[in-house]
Amino acid sequence: MEQYVIKGGTPLLGEVSIAGAKNAALGILAAAVMTDDEVIIENVPNVRDTRVLLQAIQGIGARVHYQDEHTVSICGKTIKNDKYLCVDDEYIRKIRASYYLLGALLGKYKHSQVALPGGCDIGMRPIDQHTKGFKALGAQVSIHHSMITAEAEHLTGSHIYLDVVSVGATINIMMAAVLAEGKTTIENAAKEPHIVDVANFLNSMGANIKGAGTDVIRIRGVKQLKGTTYSIIPDQIEAGTFMMAAAATRGDVLITNVIPKHLEAITSKLTEIDAIVEEYDDAVRVHCENRLGSTNIKTLPYPGFPTDMQPQMAVTLGLSEGTSIITESIFENRFKYVNELARMGANIKVEGNVAIINGVKGYTGANVIAPDLRAGAALVIAGLVADGYTIIDDIKYIQRGYEKFSTKLRALGASIERVETEKEIQKFKLKTG
Ligand code: UD1
Repeated sequence: MEQYVIKGGTPLLGEVSIAGAKNAALGILAAAVMTDDEVIIENVPNVRDTRVLLQAIQGIGARVHYQDEHTVSICGKTIKNDKYLCVDDEYIRKIRASYYLLGALLGKYKHSQVALPGGCDIGMRPIDQHTKGFKALGAQVSIHHSMITAEAEHLTGSHIYLDVVSVGATINIMMAAVLAEGKTTIENAAKEPHIVDVANFLNSMGANIKGAGTDVIRIRGVKQLKGTTYSIIPDQIEAGTFMMAAAATRGDVLITNVIPKHLEAITSKLTEIDAIVEEYDDAVRVHCENRLGSTNIKTLPYPGFPTDMQPQMAVTLGLSEGTSIITESIFENRFKYVNELARMGANIKVEGNVAIINGVKGYTGANVIAPDLRAGAALVIAGLVADGYTIIDDIKYIQRGYEKFSTKLRALGASIERVETEKEIQKFKLKTG
């Protein structure tokens, strides 16, 4: 089993370039099968989730070709469109975004069947809003033997009000509605940058979507979509993670290939706790020399503070002067990393969806387990700060969403290595001891 071994205590210094947005890529790769023409997608992050989704896309008969590490061409013409068209393999059940193929295939073929999604265990994660949207467009939706099926004679535009702001439901309904007859309105839509990116991508394929990025999205159905070449936006959460790592280690890092506007909630909180954030056209620099201050945070849908940055922020606040409070309002099970962080000396008390953080002066290295993707990245940050050695298990979660994480951190001066055996850990300790 792969692990990270880290020797902490070195401030991160230098420059790091951010990959394409994983969550945008997952929507866009799924949507690419909605035309029979070739689609070329650039700036695809080479992470486990995108590789798995591409494998599933290939599994249903589409042609997938990596032109280079970050450029993928997809052609949906060869998909076997028959009643057996079904997305299910041992991998697809592991990733949450597998359900995007439901909306994409329903839009294109008017029927789809996909294994119920997996992903990180951070809460209940129901899909009732997705199915509500498909039903409003005229589809029948059923769940049997952990497979979800959606089918329709015709898809007809509709007025859909989402009961909760859901990124996944907004993207899924948008994909199906693009090829429905007539007009669809999605109200109380999610506004995340990757919603806008998926909409822009679909529009570049000939769709007619207006209002993405606001809470009312208006779609006028078109008959068919065409091929396109499209480049994915930078990953807001990868950028935010490096911003936190720079602040927590009291380093100085220039984070390039970002859209600073997408990082505003993170920038604003970092500034509030006395880190210095400088914004450039497509980069941010984060530096800090002194101990950071405390603050209160509530996770909210975009443009609020992202739930996907909550664990990384908690690790940073765990080292700050004073008491901070984090309220997690999106997922109910997102404080599982707190027990692991406590093993490194953090003083955090969780009551329901609230974490009360009493800042400590430093962390100490320990053996910890990554409970999910973002919490795993947060534990890496803790390890980078900690005194001594930290070993992180279950890094497969981290690899779901961070491209070359340890390589990028090493380039910033961190002592971190991916290892598989005790012997490799000992070798790392000898080298860094
Ligand atoms: C996406 C992101 C994930 C991020 C999350 C919130 C992807 C692949 N994943 O997940 O990284 O943490 O947005 O920003 O883009 N809900 C319902 N019914 C539904 C759908 C959602 O009640 O049908 C609830 C969820 O339980 C949650 C909230 O709505 O409380 C937001 O979930 P949602 O935005 O759908 O998250 P995901 O799309 O799964």
